[in-house]
Amino acid sequence: MTASVSNELAKLVTEAREKFDSALTEDELNRVKAGYLGRQGAISALMRRMKELSPEERPAFGQRVNAAKDALEVALDRRREALRRERIQRAIESERMDVTLPARGGERGALHPLRRVEQDLVGIFRRLGYDVAEGPEVELDFHNFSALNFPADHPARDMQDTFHLEGEPDRLLRTHTSSVQIRTLLANQPPVRIVAPGAVYRSDEVDMTHSPCFHQIEGLFVDRGVTMAHLRGTLEAFAAELFGRSVGIRLRPSFFPFVEPGAEVDVGCVFCDGAGCRVCGQTGWIEILGAGMVHPAVFESVGLDPEEWTGFAFGMGIERIAMLRYGVQDIRLFYENDLRFLAPFA
Ligand code: DAH
Repeated sequence: MTASVSNELAKLVTEAREKFDSALTEDELNRVKAGYLGRQGAISALMRRMKELSPEERPAFGQRVNAAKDALEVALDRRREALRRERIQRAIESERMDVTLPARGGERGALHPLRRVEQDLVGIFRRLGYDVAEGPEVELDFHNFSALNFPADHPARDMQDTFHLEGEPDRLLRTHTSSVQIRTLLANQPPVRIVAPGAVYRSDEVDMTHSPCFHQIEGLFVDRGVTMAHLRGTLEAFAAELFGRSVGIRLRPSFFPFVEPGAEVDVGCVFCDGAGCRVCGQTGWIEILGAGMVHPAVFESVGLDPEEWTGFAFGMGIERIAMLRYGVQDIRLFYENDLRFLAPFA
């Protein structure tokens, strides 16, 4: 009996080793393991046959079974490790990538047309000796209106035009970049020569030419002895640079509270050279900005003596210039992020 049980043990061990080695996956190995080392496995079954042995034979047999179990665990571990390595090796092979392949074509970005126009406008004035100034989009009533000589009941302050901050009567979204004139004059002793580009807000209805947020660029030149001839010469030089050739300009009297005299400035229509066309409404002129001589009340509100200091200011809409330059009919196209519109500017 003893011999037959121990033979069986030896046979089992050899057989288990072979099966471990031929298991092809870790799952399969686990199933094979259960067949030998599990509760219902062959080794346990053999242990249950211990009672067939005489009491003297049992301890030695028990030790042999335990030794066999240990040997099988070792064989199992070895095989498990080999399978794990194979699995990793296969993954490395199959997931191999060629890091030297050129990347799949990313598309190149480009400046938004409004930004491009803004940069061109700023560039022109920089070459004329202007610095760039900035101001916040959330402004104080003082910078946006009061200091610019807007009377308390001016319609621009009306809820219809201005976005006010709830519960903060003195704060608003700036309605124009003219607020930067005040900030600049409060922070700098003249002479000053600045342009200030940026977003402005008005609670307009949206249509082809209006948007509640749009962009302006402001100009301010303050020094002693500045005259309207300087303003005119500056704007002529600007228009020629903008359109790449000498286009006529004309100043029409107009009213803005912070300038006196004030003007609306037209350029000769670049589409028909003044002959009259659809774009200029048959007039031969296109309005592009507002301008004028800095009002004495503005100087007073920033503590400058209007007898000593003189200056001119101007402001224009960046969208308006971009629409003229690129022949865009609908202002909304600038804000929709539609690549069909934007891509040609790239
Ligand atoms: N701030 C004016 C507006 O938004 C534009 C303007 C007109 C600016 C005349 C100026 C100026 O500096 O002199 O309608």
